[in-house]
Amino acid sequence: YDAVLAADPADRGWKDRRDHVTGSISVNGNARKVEGWVIMKKILFVASEAVPFIKTGGLADVLGALPFAQKEIGIDTRILLPAYPKISAGIENTHVVTEFNNFAGHVVLRYGEYNGVGIYLIDAPHLYWREGNPYHDTDYNDYADNYKRFALLGWVGAELATGLDSWWRAEVVHAHDWHAGLAAAYLFNKGRPAKSVFTIHNLAYQGQFAHRHLYEIGLPEGMFHVDGLELFGQISYLKAGLYYSDMVTAVSPTYAKEITTPDFAYGLQGLLTDLREAGKLTGILNGVDQEIWHPSCDPYIQHHYKLKSIAGKKKNKADLQAYFNLPQQPDAPVFVMVTRLTEQKGVDLLIATADEIVKQGGQLAILGSGAKHLEEGICQLAQRYPENIAVKIGYDEALSHLMVAGGDVILVPSRFEPCGLTQLYGLQYGTLPLVRATGGLADTVTNSTSETIKERTATGFVFQKAEADDLRNAIQHAFALWQKQRVWAMVRNNAMAQDFSWKNAAAQYEQLYLSILNQ
Ligand code: ADP
Ligand code: GLC
Repeated sequence: YDAVLAADPADRGWKDRRDHVTGSISVNGNARKVEGWVIMKKILFVASEAVPFIKTGGLADVLGALPFAQKEIGIDTRILLPAYPKISAGIENTHVVTEFNNFAGHVVLRYGEYNGVGIYLIDAPHLYWREGNPYHDTDYNDYADNYKRFALLGWVGAELATGLDSWWRAEVVHAHDWHAGLAAAYLFNKGRPAKSVFTIHNLAYQGQFAHRHLYEIGLPEGMFHVDGLELFGQISYLKAGLYYSDMVTAVSPTYAKEITTPDFAYGLQGLLTDLREAGKLTGILNGVDQEIWHPSCDPYIQHHYKLKSIAGKKKNKADLQAYFNLPQQPDAPVFVMVTRLTEQKGVDLLIATADEIVKQGGQLAILGSGAKHLEEGICQLAQRYPENIAVKIGYDEALSHLMVAGGDVILVPSRFEPCGLTQLYGLQYGTLPLVRATGGLADTVTNSTSETIKERTATGFVFQKAEADDLRNAIQHAFALWQKQRVWAMVRNNAMAQDFSWKNAAAQYEQLYLSILNQ
């Protein structure tokens, strides 16, 4: 551990301490006993969404879990978020840290705590007091002032490393996705007073804005450069995060490699390859929040179960079939999918192959919302095969848990997938993931072959190409295994025995912080 030893932290005005430790050091060749307190590293997470306050995807799940896991292992992680209405409502008893005026107008910085983790809220109602989705209006139009809303987020992130809160100063500013990408750019512009980490949750969303806005967000023209935050003639908040951070991570090892290739990189493959070759781009796999997503204590399901006492799973399956008005057939495998409906997720491939599930006597339940043509596509499936396929359009947290608990197979046929969380939930709940071999899906699911079954490493079904035929084969593969219920149960046991707790990821991020702080 990278420890700072002091006689007593109170003497030095340090409020936070992890543990009292003793050890020895060598002074002029003589061993001397020392004792003191390990001081926690101060890390600031900067992001735009977090469970349980506001969520549009897996990013929020990560923000709702990783900081808490870091706190558990002795890191002093705090989170900076915009004060959207739902976030303000979720954090009680905040106090004002400071008020200021800058390019974004009048801003109040508040501080509160949630489950022991410190949370800074940027209270700027003219920018953030909008109900619903944090990025766009109800017609799916991006807010016209997004450049300013997320510049402010990055700006405050950087300022919290240089005394905006006189009681707490971040040593590492850890920004997540493009929304927070400018934090590293502002730090650079201030002479790099703290270290910075940028985590890519999804390279497909880039935060591109017109060059003219540069003058409105307090960054100098010199940074609008190919060696800087310029991308295809625009300001890219994502590229700012990649270019100016001390370290970049992606949410799985495979995705960290894939994004150095043109197919996955949206023109950023040159920069990402350079970062990787310089040892500045690595992959750290996400985890699962065991307090929310574990079948033995899931607050949303009626029937709890676990590896050694699985009976509850069947009851959840019956509940799920009842919810969707599907015939109560315990013997029919239920395929489930919970997803944003975008090109990324391969929903079109499922639409083209769902008839295979029907033909083989299975059932399919889909929960999702997003692109209109995909919503229509899955609704048509349900109309065509009402006895086998059911769909709910919308966002429904409680139902998503019932689906993961009650399903037999969870489908994630993504074209690309930085990490993917629903397959991890599937593993945890013994709902075998059927996935395409990409990104985090490739890193977390092992295809069931005669060898992997023998070695007891099989955990699901994996197909290679983003093509309907390949998905169809994988579905057939799942039905073939379903016929051998004893083997199915074995694979399910392997899946449920996997450990995706956040502890592993928290420890890997800690190593990363220590390595850049020691540079
Ligand atoms: P992404 O972040 O790309 O959407 P992930 O698999 O990482 O993909 O995370 C998606 C998260 O959002 C999961 O927690 C999943 O359960 C949840 N989710 C997606 N769509 C819905 C929905 N329609 N209703 C409820 N939860 C959803
Ligand atoms: C993104 C990715 C998803 C990942 C999530 C959390 O939304 O699409 O694969 O699991 O972020 O890191």
